[in-house]
Amino acid sequence: FPLAGVIGNPIGQSKSPRLHRHWLTRYGIRGDYVPMQVEEADLETVLRTLPKMGFVGANVTLPHKVSVLSIADRVTDRAILIGAANTLIFREDGTIHADNTDGYGFISNLKQGAPDWDPKAGPTAVFGAGGAARAIIVALAQEGVDEILLSNRTRPKAEALRAEFGPRIQVVDWVQAGNMLEEATTVVNTTSLGMAGQPELRVPLDGLRSDAVVTDIVYAPLRTQLLQSAAEKGCITVDGLGMLLHQGVPGFERWFGHRPVVDDELRKAVL
Ligand code: ATR
Repeated sequence: FPLAGVIGNPIGQSKSPRLHRHWLTRYGIRGDYVPMQVEEADLETVLRTLPKMGFVGANVTLPHKVSVLSIADRVTDRAILIGAANTLIFREDGTIHADNTDGYGFISNLKQGAPDWDPKAGPTAVFGAGGAARAIIVALAQEGVDEILLSNRTRPKAEALRAEFGPRIQVVDWVQAGNMLEEATTVVNTTSLGMAGQPELRVPLDGLRSDAVVTDIVYAPLRTQLLQSAAEKGCITVDGLGMLLHQGVPGFERWFGHRPVVDDELRKAVL
């Protein structure tokens, strides 16, 4: 009876229990997936104890995604590059393996929503330079995107990503962020702007190309103002819910032995 779950603080808002429980029911797998609220000071003790209680792995969310790297016994290359982990596998030999599937989830969602997406068509414009942006930049680079225009309200955070990930990143000042859109064939909002209860992303979209693929990591609302405006321009748009759903695929497969699908039925179940 394999168990998995998600560890964070707070944890009540996490959609992961609904996601994984939907898959467990759908595939008739005996097992469970539970939310766990854990304090930073208790994280290592909890992680060392869970395998003794029948847990085969766990997702990790805020604020533990970075600190879990120093607890894990092995960390995948992509998690090291991103500098955070979201998926843990508890191995039979007692070791903990940490991976990051956020970038994978982002790319899988993009490819599902825009099957003809071409990473080489032109530059990618990225709004934001936080944790989500790191995962997305690493994933875009791995897909072969070789020009990333990056703009963040706090410019030094964008400069730091350029220093870390190299000259494929070009930093654009926040007040000129709209200029990125004239060239960009892929546009990504990685900020929380546009989320219900947050301010809108106020970037002039006049220059946005009608052949651009536009995606947002925000999924509440599903159709953000950015996606709405882009759709009105004729762009292909991809909402952020799929990123959340796809990031869960590798973990579920490892823990429960069945590769799950992401489709409309799942989207409805999780929303
Ligand atoms: P996440 O892990 O979701 O990326 P984060 O690391 O806190 O969360 O990053 C949040 C991102 O949204 C940052 O790029 C942040 O910009 P700053 O680096 O300037 O803080 C951006 N963001 C949040 N609120 C914003 C606002 N009101 N205006 C502009 N950018 C905002």
